[in-house]
Amino acid sequence: MIRLSTGIYEFDKLIEGGIPQGFFVALTGEPGTGKTIFSLHFVAQGLKEGNPCVYVTTEESRDSIVKQAKQFGWDFEEHLDKKLIIIDALMKEKDDEWSLTELTAEELINKVILAKQKLGHGYARLVIDSVSALFLDKPALARKISYYLKRVLNKWKFTIYATSQYAITTSQAFGFGVEHVADGIIRFRRSVKDGMLRRYILIEKMRQTNHDKYIWEIDIREGKGIVLIGKLDLRREDTSLPKKVMDKIKEAESRKDMELS
Ligand SMILES: Nc1ncnc2c1ncn2[C@@H]1O[C@H](COP(=O)(O)OP(=O)(O)OP(=O)(O)O)[C@@H](O)[C@H]1O
Ligand SMILES: [Mg+2]
Repeated sequence: MIRLSTGIYEFDKLIEGGIPQGFFVALTGEPGTGKTIFSLHFVAQGLKEGNPCVYVTTEESRDSIVKQAKQFGWDFEEHLDKKLIIIDALMKEKDDEWSLTELTAEELINKVILAKQKLGHGYARLVIDSVSALFLDKPALARKISYYLKRVLNKWKFTIYATSQYAITTSQAFGFGVEHVADGIIRFRRSVKDGMLRRYILIEKMRQTNHDKYIWEIDIREGKGIVLIGKLDLRREDTSLPKKVMDKIKEAESRKDMELS
């Protein structure tokens, strides 16, 4: 099996060397947790290895992506339209060859295929940041749309990252359908501890891989990108909801039971 380096070597070790080629991996998490930067690593690594890369951005402009990459030492500009195409779904510029005029799965697929044809044959890397933007107004269709994307784009020899947002209040993946369809799920989290923002990463699923099962604290560093600091001794079950919240839920449920009986 061929595995692709994520561009974060410490992270590669947690998944037996990298993402299996052809996989569709969901990166889910709250805002500001590092999904976009994690995706930039994947593209930077692809470019380093000479792989064609396509990046679809729905939340930030192409310019913003290029600038953000530069802060971590990656020059995307020199690869633009040669090895890298950034499809901008935000600016909707009519005279721009690589803008999406509407935010639909069909339009996205068409543009991604055009980009692939321009970049040439062979295996390529694709980032869809974010895929949730495609079903903002129709969350019930999340699974169907994700499945459709995966099925069509797989034929075009892509290994895919699809970012998706988490609802801050409930910690529910927005349009959780992505996670069922995905071959892998990488979960990004954040919390404030000792008055400081901390970020974490957890591999929730990686098919065909004996992956690490710990939560890792990460840091985002200028000039470097994502760095793994160390693992926590807590498994996911321990932290899926804060204890206080769990206790409150249990309390409310037992009250309901009592009222019913
Ligand atoms: N040059 C930098 N040096 C250090 N940290 C940075 C730098 N640039 C960005 N960051 C950190 O990265 C965060 C943004 O991370 P990122 O864009 O990957 O989040 P995200 O999960 O994609 O969020 P969203 O869901 O809102 O798109 C910033 O809030 C900041 O804390
Ligand atoms: Mg982002």
